[in-house]
Amino acid sequence: MLLENITKTMNYAKSLLLTLAASLAVAGSALAQPAPLPPAATQSGVTYATDLKPIFDAACVKCHSGDKAKARLHMDTLEGVLKGAKMGPILKAGDSANSLIVKAVAHLTKDQDSWMPPLRNKAGIKPLTPEQIGLLRAWIDQGAK
Ligand code: HEC
Repeated sequence: MLLENITKTMNYAKSLLLTLAASLAVAGSALAQPAPLPPAATQSGVTYATDLKPIFDAACVKCHSGDKAKARLHMDTLEGVLKGAKMGPILKAGDSANSLIVKAVAHLTKDQDSWMPPLRNKAGIKPLTPEQIGLLRAWIDQGAK
């Protein structure tokens, strides 16, 4: 009787573990799906100085300014952002969906090394929120002024 109970309990534990493993696999594949691109904010008159600089200062400028700016991209001035990185421009004014900077912050580039800010950065800087990405998109769509 005791032995039978132990066997029952072990079978139960086994099925619990299997269920857990199956749900973890589902969660894992959901995470691997490309993130959807948040829509552009509806706000008009979005500018670098009023709307984007505070976001870039908090999330990007630590690595993208000064002599050692990563990818030689300077995000602390409008000129720097428009000039782009060592391999070229990072945005297409009027076309946010096809701008590298938007793909980088929305995790839509194939190469995870291009996701910005980098996923596990030492500074503990968090990914941009969908609202911040929406503002970035509106700024680019409105001409990146
Ligand atoms: C903790 C440091 C760090 C932060 C914070 C950071 N970046 Fe980067 N960024 C890097 C590094 C390192 C590279 C070079 C990556 C490479 O060469 O693959 C880079 C490269 C880039 C590039 C060039 C893309 C490419 O494919 O090389 C863009 C665009 C960019 N960053 C945008 C941003 C934006 C926008 C933010 C803020 C939302 C940001 N970064 C925040 C470290 C950072």
